[in-house]
Amino acid sequence: MNKKLNIGVVGLGFIGKKHIECYEKMDTVNLAAVADINAQVLAKECDYKFKVYTDLDEMLRCESLDAVDVCLPTVFHKEAVNTALHHGCHVIVEKPFALQSAEIDEMLECSVKNGRRLMVAHVCRFMQEYRFAKEVITSQSLGKPLYYYACRNSATPKWSSNNWLADKKFSGGTVMDLQIHDIDIANWLLGEPTEYKMVEINNPQLGTSNFGHIISTIKYSDKEVAVLEAGHLMPDIYPFYTAYRLICEKGVIEFSRGADIKFTLCKENELNDMTEEYHSKYEDINPYFEELSHFADCILNNKEFDISTEEAKKAVNTVNKLLENMF
Ligand SMILES: NC(=O)c1ccc[n+]([C@@H]2O[C@H](COP(=O)([O-])OP(=O)(O)OC[C@H]3O[C@@H](n4cnc5c(N)ncnc54)[C@H](O)[C@@H]3O)[C@@H](O)[C@H]2O)c1
Repeated sequence: MNKKLNIGVVGLGFIGKKHIECYEKMDTVNLAAVADINAQVLAKECDYKFKVYTDLDEMLRCESLDAVDVCLPTVFHKEAVNTALHHGCHVIVEKPFALQSAEIDEMLECSVKNGRRLMVAHVCRFMQEYRFAKEVITSQSLGKPLYYYACRNSATPKWSSNNWLADKKFSGGTVMDLQIHDIDIANWLLGEPTEYKMVEINNPQLGTSNFGHIISTIKYSDKEVAVLEAGHLMPDIYPFYTAYRLICEKGVIEFSRGADIKFTLCKENELNDMTEEYHSKYEDINPYFEELSHFADCILNNKEFDISTEEAKKAVNTVNKLLENMF
């Protein structure tokens, strides 16, 4: 394979554009082409320095790509992933992997059959605050984890093409599209989920929209508990907000990012405000760039991905267990 990964992106919406910005700055990747079904979207982006197609098949036929980055509405992931794998490309696909486990199994089979690799883009795995929590648990510096709380609140999304995000048949709803970030992190930190409960609050003023505010409780095999809150019901002006609290036997980490960032580590009698350190060490790190350059590095140098397809499948299965256990 060339030293640079020759890549094509399919889906030039909210996340596809973010990925393109990253690839354009990456030494290890040549962004060869993009495909989007919507010619108007492409026309708007036509000053980009790569070829544009309205069809994934055509892009695959006309370009000799090493890899494809699938940034399509979730319900279309399986078809695009399998098409690219069949064509001999490695694939990175946005989270959630798919809406159902059976679709994931088809993609995994296709990846094995074609000898091509597949990574799911769970960007939080590349955010320093979650990496810090994972390191604390792995090193046992605060002892055993007991409880994990995470929050992720967004203004009601208005950007998605044909408003697909508001349709559960396309997106799986707020738990599948938004809370899955925190579900994957909770599984990564705490292990095997065993019990599930979820409640969804809807806003009648949003009419037929399926956006919601979700509270999920998950119990893990070693008795740890995660409580996860995620919502798409915030007003337009509300700054996107994420937070977590990890309570361990010997201390607690708290992180929040909204209008500003706050990061503290409390260990026995010591309260350590790490906010300044976070700003100076991590502010310039773009997690999307980290994630996509990790994918390129793993393909070019035959390394293991930091997130396995099994873990990404577990996140989808956890969502579906929560949906089966709504009250
Ligand atoms: N990791 C993150 O932080 C993050 C953030 C947002 C979205 N996502 C995920 O990324 C995926 C895309 O979401 P989005 O918000 O970018 O959606 P979007 O609606 O903004 O963009 C989707 C694009 O795909 C195009 N498209 C639709 N069907 C197509 C087809 N068959 N062939 C070619 N192009 C087609 C649309 O025209 C549109 O431009 C979803 O799976 C979503 O969950 C991840």
